[in-house]
Amino acid sequence: MRDFIRPKPIDNEIVLDPSKIIMSKTDYKGVILYANEYFMEICKYDEWELMGQPHNVIRHLDMPKVIFKFMWERLHQGKNIHAVVKNLAKDGSYYWVMTTFETTYDEDGNILAHYARRKAVPKKAKEAFESLYSKILKIEQQNETAAEKFFYGYIENSGKSYDQLFLDILEMTNEEIEAYFKNERTIIIPKKEDVDLDIDFTNIEQKKQPEIKQEKSNEELEKLKADIAKLQEALTKKEEEPKKKKGLFGKFFSK
Ligand SMILES: Cc1cc2nc3c(=O)[nH]c(=O)nc-3n(C[C@H](O)[C@H](O)[C@H](O)COP(=O)(O)O)c2cc1C
Repeated sequence: MRDFIRPKPIDNEIVLDPSKIIMSKTDYKGVILYANEYFMEICKYDEWELMGQPHNVIRHLDMPKVIFKFMWERLHQGKNIHAVVKNLAKDGSYYWVMTTFETTYDEDGNILAHYARRKAVPKKAKEAFESLYSKILKIEQQNETAAEKFFYGYIENSGKSYDQLFLDILEMTNEEIEAYFKNERTIIIPKKEDVDLDIDFTNIEQKKQPEIKQEKSNEELEKLKADIAKLQEALTKKEEEPKKKKGLFGKFFSK
């Protein structure tokens, strides 16, 4: 391993392009095998500095150890995990990412590689994770076991699994995360008052307006159904009118 001097963190956030993915591939131990262009652009390292290095080269000291411990446990169980992580760039700046992992296996079930794909985190979620991590970190600096217990207690107290809690903090569903990573638009029916808004897909926070949700569209659908029924009724009446007249004539002529 080459000598590595950990950069001194500075208070400068690198703002990510929400349409771009930061991707890296590691071996089973977390040694970097590949990283995409955007990875290099954001962390400011060159390929030759990263390849063959353990992934903790971009580890930010504001990240509690227990989060990575939990992440590795899940990966070893063959399970994916979503995590929000603060990373350290070469110049000491930081950037927050929402990460999703994928592991590939050979025919005998041995790990071939771990893949991590990362995207920008919505501001509200970033603040929530930042506050949680800073609490854990403070405990961790005193007592690592206590920090771990606090983390599990926090999840337990929510009455949810880590995965559900993660989604709730992000105010996203699994499908929405998937769509976000694929840069797809989620199907949303905007409220009338939002129609004039220029809803920019690249801005996750605008896309995630809580009001633009199924509840409202159901309401609108019901109203639409009622309107259609009324329209059909009116049409049927109109169609029946000449028939009635014909009927009268028919009656008349048959007499
Ligand atoms: C595919 C993959 C991607 C990872 N990405 C990051 C990352 O972006 N930032 C980070 O700090 N650790 C990342 N890790 C975890 C590191 O390998 C490491 O566990 C972590 O930085 C904590 O460092 P430590 O184990 O030396 O305490 C990744 C691991 C894997 C397998």
